[in-house]
Amino acid sequence: MKGTMPRAEKILSRINELASISEAPKGITRRYGTAAAVEAGEKVQEWMRAAGLQVRVDAIGNIRGIWKAESAGAGRLVIASHIDTVMDAGRWDGPLGVVMGLDLLEHIIGSGGRLPFDIELIAFCDEEGVRFHTTYLGSKVVAGRFERDMLDRKDAEGVSLREAIGMIGGKAEELEEDAIPSEQWLGYFEIHIEQGPVLYEKKAPVALVKGIAGQVRAEVVFSGMAGHAGTVPMEMRNDALCGAAEFILAAEELAGRAGSGLVATVGKLQIANAASNVIPGEVVCSVDIRSADEGVLSQGHLQLRALCESIGGKRGLAVQWKVVQASSPVACDARMNELLGKSIRGAGYEMVELVSGAGHDAVPISAVSPVCMMFVRCYEGISHHPQEHVETEDLAAAIVVADEFIHQLSEIWKYPL
Ligand code: HGY
Ligand code: MN
Ligand code: MN
Repeated sequence: MKGTMPRAEKILSRINELASISEAPKGITRRYGTAAAVEAGEKVQEWMRAAGLQVRVDAIGNIRGIWKAESAGAGRLVIASHIDTVMDAGRWDGPLGVVMGLDLLEHIIGSGGRLPFDIELIAFCDEEGVRFHTTYLGSKVVAGRFERDMLDRKDAEGVSLREAIGMIGGKAEELEEDAIPSEQWLGYFEIHIEQGPVLYEKKAPVALVKGIAGQVRAEVVFSGMAGHAGTVPMEMRNDALCGAAEFILAAEELAGRAGSGLVATVGKLQIANAASNVIPGEVVCSVDIRSADEGVLSQGHLQLRALCESIGGKRGLAVQWKVVQASSPVACDARMNELLGKSIRGAGYEMVELVSGAGHDAVPISAVSPVCMMFVRCYEGISHHPQEHVETEDLAAAIVVADEFIHQLSEIWKYPL
C-alpha cells in the first residue's frame, strides 16, 4: 500500500480542488446545470485530456473520456460516478469514483498498457437530482433509459430541464444518440464512499457491494384551509401543516418498527404562503422510501400512502401523493464481484460484502450492463454532510485493489467481442 501513497495524495488534492468549486459562498453545492457544475466539468476535462483520453461533453453534460483498446471492435468497460452534489455536501460522494477512475487510467497509460477492452471514464452530471427532483439524469442518458417527459420538469425558479440543458450548451434533441450501444457494454465499475458506518466499525478499508436498495420517491401535497391564527377555534381548523407533521412522525414510526426492512425519510417540506399568523392551508413534502427487498418496498409504499390518506381524511385535508422516481433493487454482477473479491483478498484485506442503502448511477446502468461497485470507508459513515472524510491510507488501499481488479478483468475480457 506504501507504493500507492503518492497516487493517493494526488487523488486527495484533486478531490480538494473539486471541493473548492461551489455555487454557494459557504460549503459545497453543485446542482445540475449551474455555473459551478460547468466549472467542475471543465476541471475534469482538463485532467482527462492531460491523461491522454479522448474527451467530450455529451448532450446532457456528462464529461466522457475514452482510452481505446489495443484492437478495434473491443468491448467497453465504463468507470464512472457523479460530480453533482446535494446542498452543503461532503467532498467525496461522487467525485471519489471519478478521480479514482482517472488515477487508474493514468496508471494504465503511464505503464504503457493497452487493454483488450476500451475504458470510458464518465463524470455524470446529475445523480443527486437536487435541482429538478430527478435522479440519474446523466447515467440514464448513457444507458439509453432517459425519459423524455423529464424535460418538462421545472426547478424552483420555473426553469425547465430542457431550458437548463440548452443553457449549458447541451442538446435535448440528441440525448438518445449518447447512449452506449448495448452490444458494446462489457461492464460498469463504480468506486464510492460507503456512506454508512459498517467499514468504519469493522476497521476495513474497502467493501464489495452485493446490491443496491430500491427506492420510491414521492411528492405529497396536503391541502386544508388557510385562516386567521387568532380567530379560528382549534376544533374548526383544517391545518395542512399539522396533518403533514402527524404523517411525518407516523412514517418514522412505521419504518422504525423492528424488522421492517424499510427506511422512510421526509427531507423537504414547503409551506405555501407561510406566515406566523396564518393557519397553513397547503404543505408540500417529499417522501423517500427504500428497501433492499422489492416486496418490502412496494408494501411499505402502499402502507405509507394509505397512512397519509387516512390522516388527511381524519383532518379534513385533501392529499395528493405523486411518485416522482422509483427504482427496483439491483443485484451487482456475480462474475465481476468474484474478481473484485479475489482482488480484495489478494491485497490482504478482510472481505466485507454490503448492500447499498444509497442509490448510485449503477442503478440505471444495470439495465444494460453488468455492474460492480467497491465501497471505500468514510469517517463514521458520515455522508451528505461537510464532515464526510476518507483517510489517505484507505485511498491507497483502494488503489491496490482496483489496480488488481482491472488486471483480473483484462484476463477474462481477452478478445474483441
Ligand atoms: O439518495 C441517494 O441515495 C444518493 O445519494 N443519490
Ligand atoms: Mn449522494
Ligand atoms: Mn453518490
